[in-house]
Amino acid sequence: MSFTRYKDKKVFITGGSAGIGKGIAIQLAKAGASVIVSARGKSNLEKTVQELKAVGAPTAVFGFAVLDVSDKKALEKEAKKAIQTLGGLDLLICSSGFAKAGEASDLEDEVYRNLMDVNFFGHVNSALAFNDHFAKQKSGEIVFLASTLAFFSIYGYGAYSASKFAIVGFAQGFRQEMMLHGVKVKLFLPPTTDTPGLEKENTDKPELSKEIEMGSALNKVHAIDSVAKAILKWIPNKKFIGYTGWDSWLQYFLFRHFPEFSIKLTDSELKAAQSRLYKKKQKDRNAV
Ligand SMILES: NC(=O)c1ccc[n+]([C@@H]2O[C@H](COP(=O)([O-])OP(=O)(O)OC[C@H]3O[C@@H](n4cnc5c(N)ncnc54)[C@H](OP(=O)(O)O)[C@@H]3O)[C@@H](O)[C@H]2O)c1
Repeated sequence: MSFTRYKDKKVFITGGSAGIGKGIAIQLAKAGASVIVSARGKSNLEKTVQELKAVGAPTAVFGFAVLDVSDKKALEKEAKKAIQTLGGLDLLICSSGFAKAGEASDLEDEVYRNLMDVNFFGHVNSALAFNDHFAKQKSGEIVFLASTLAFFSIYGYGAYSASKFAIVGFAQGFRQEMMLHGVKVKLFLPPTTDTPGLEKENTDKPELSKEIEMGSALNKVHAIDSVAKAILKWIPNKKFIGYTGWDSWLQYFLFRHFPEFSIKLTDSELKAAQSRLYKKKQKDRNAV
């Protein structure tokens, strides 16, 4: 797949040191873009920049910004620096974020707040740090990564989904504001993707959540590379919302058009998972 439209583009990526954000950075570097990646951890950022230099154009500029997206002031400072370093900006990709699953009453208050701080405020802070630049320039693209769980939720994912639903609302209103300045705002719903973030999420997710996934036909785990490519292919098209794979399409379609039916479907998946788990535990007990 060739992404010639990104040649010589200037790009800033939050969450660019790992997972989907890093995958996008690598594809962009290969296409000839200049890229600044940002995250909290410096060593992963340094490693990423080395990888970008190895595949990128000799004339391209690569750099990193160490910051926490929940820190609005840090973002404002780093945004100014990035615009100076790159000599402008064409594309902002907001990929920072994390998932934490757990029954609502088991999650500490701090988890709810962190999810909102990073997944919602992190994207808002990032967009607002660059929007003056884009508005003055009268062009540019801002891409928010949300989740398929930004339009529906299931057992164990209420807190996470709330932070992702929130960014959908913001993105819709903000899209219209920026449209008046000639700037595109878009929202992508990544599917389950094989990233360090997913690995971490899987370590402490409730056993019932794992059982639901095992029984679901819609739980394909996608490769970073294919998701990154799908995002870059979708950016130039006219659609506000993007997704990849028939599994995401089906989930999005069902919940948009048949919400009550979809709720019944997920309820039956939950009950079936609960019953399988019960039987497994019985079997284990009998085996002792
Ligand atoms: N992977 C999936 O299955 C999946 C599914 C649906 C949606 N998504 C969404 O897609 C996006 C990318 O996910 P991923 O799985 O690629 O994540 P990942 O592998 O965990 O990578 C996350 C990136 O964001 C950075 N980051 C995390 N918290 C940050 C913070 N507070 N401030 C600044 N940077 C921060 C991380 O670096 P540091 O830790 O060093 O800061 C890293 O570079 C997220 O918004 C996620 O919610 C992922």
